[in-house]
Amino acid sequence: MTTTSALDCQYRPRHHYTADRSWLNDPNGLVYANGTYHLFYQHNPSGTVWGNMSWGHATSADLLHWDEQPVAIACDEQEAIFSGSAVLDKTNTSGFGTPDNPPLVAIYTSAYTPASPLNGRQAQSLAYSTDNGATWTKYDGNPVLDRASADFRDPKVFWYDGSAGSYWVMVAVEAVDREVVLYKSADLKTWEYLSTFGPANATGGVWECPDLFELPVDGDAGNTKWVLVVNLSPGGIAGGSGGQYFLGSFDGVAFTSETTVTQGIQQDDSRMAEYGWLDWGRDYYAAVSFSNAPGGRRLMIGWMNNWQYGAVTPTSGWRSAMSLVREVRLASRDGAVALVQAAVDPYGSGGATTYSEAGTALAVGTRWLPAEASGDVLRIDADIVPGTAGEVGLLLRADGGERTVLAYDSGRGVLSLDRTASGNTAFHESFASVQRVAVPLEDGRLRLRVFLDRCSVEVFAQDGLATITDQIFPGESSTSLAVFAEGGGATLVSLDVVRTRSHA
Ligand code: FRU
Repeated sequence: MTTTSALDCQYRPRHHYTADRSWLNDPNGLVYANGTYHLFYQHNPSGTVWGNMSWGHATSADLLHWDEQPVAIACDEQEAIFSGSAVLDKTNTSGFGTPDNPPLVAIYTSAYTPASPLNGRQAQSLAYSTDNGATWTKYDGNPVLDRASADFRDPKVFWYDGSAGSYWVMVAVEAVDREVVLYKSADLKTWEYLSTFGPANATGGVWECPDLFELPVDGDAGNTKWVLVVNLSPGGIAGGSGGQYFLGSFDGVAFTSETTVTQGIQQDDSRMAEYGWLDWGRDYYAAVSFSNAPGGRRLMIGWMNNWQYGAVTPTSGWRSAMSLVREVRLASRDGAVALVQAAVDPYGSGGATTYSEAGTALAVGTRWLPAEASGDVLRIDADIVPGTAGEVGLLLRADGGERTVLAYDSGRGVLSLDRTASGNTAFHESFASVQRVAVPLEDGRLRLRVFLDRCSVEVFAQDGLATITDQIFPGESSTSLAVFAEGGGATLVSLDVVRTRSHA
């Protein structure tokens, strides 16, 4: 974790990656190679707002502690380096390395400037590294895929090995057309068109940063589904930027969705809650997965921000953090296949439980918890039986009237995160808001895992069946935690507050 700078300690996250002194947006080129996880990202090396788009770089051995590295791929006069992916080219199909030293290959979008003959276009380009990601060389045959489009971007490349053969597949977007376009290649340099998916489901904003991967259902390798991730902005479920997904199949040529509710580019707002969403909060965007993660794990990171107000969040010296890393799985729940997510837990080995209670009745009203349960960097696990309470929940990062309210409405079966009184919300008119997701009780219970960091809340409900990720900017003294019930009594089956040991 890069927290060496003294700049703006108040909001600088403890467990979330930030660039030391600048702006970041989308995670790019997430790849594991030789014991190292690489996190590249959209980065302005010389400012705290979007611009000079280059790939920043950080590395980690454990997905928890990140070390910032020098800029990996820098913009130049002719092109900005927009989002994309990276692969370990194990058999050196590209010829950029050797069989003994396979290259890392980045596939990124060249956003051409007026200084380029391709001014105004977006096309896909390559850069490669033969020293484990330390230095990168742009391919002299760039771009490798040009559709003469102004909005063709965000290539995610993976190795397909199935009934149709073995080759590289690229998923990218025609952003304005709300289309995911698929191509294949033997060597990453020459690409052949396969198919187009979309528009479908949420189309209220441009489609960006797609991803496509196969996952076993309930861990059964003989029963898999493909997940097509399509981020969009605006038009997300909570307003502004968001990430939707489709479940279906991929035959090596085309993705066939089983979860398409609406087709075409006409946005039907009344159906939004029926679509698959990676997160129901305001601040989880451009989420994509790691390539080559060990153990077949599907690990994703999102940009913990929103284009609606991303440029004006009240931090100084740096702006925007990444989400925690999430492991994504498919699980049968209530007869349907659901996407479930679990954070790679910063408190796993370095945490200490400082407050616990179990089997307590929650009377109507608000009960403030003792000092051991307070803090700005915590994991909170709550297992609640709402009982006769109309509403039950937690007041997070609270101090007097300032609080972020995580509430469950038993009548409606809806979990909400209300940041209207969370602290500084005035920096943008659309920031103060309440995020909601329908969450059915399981055996009469609601299980919540909440990660608080200095400027964020990530909620995982019912073991990751639904998540809500929101930034908040509370005052420094807003560290209290309370439980509340309204309209009737509830039971707190258990509540555990975990904090990081200082050396972790
Ligand atoms: C998504 C996005 C991408 C683009 C990048 C530019 O947030 O707009 O589509 O490649 O950001 O920084």
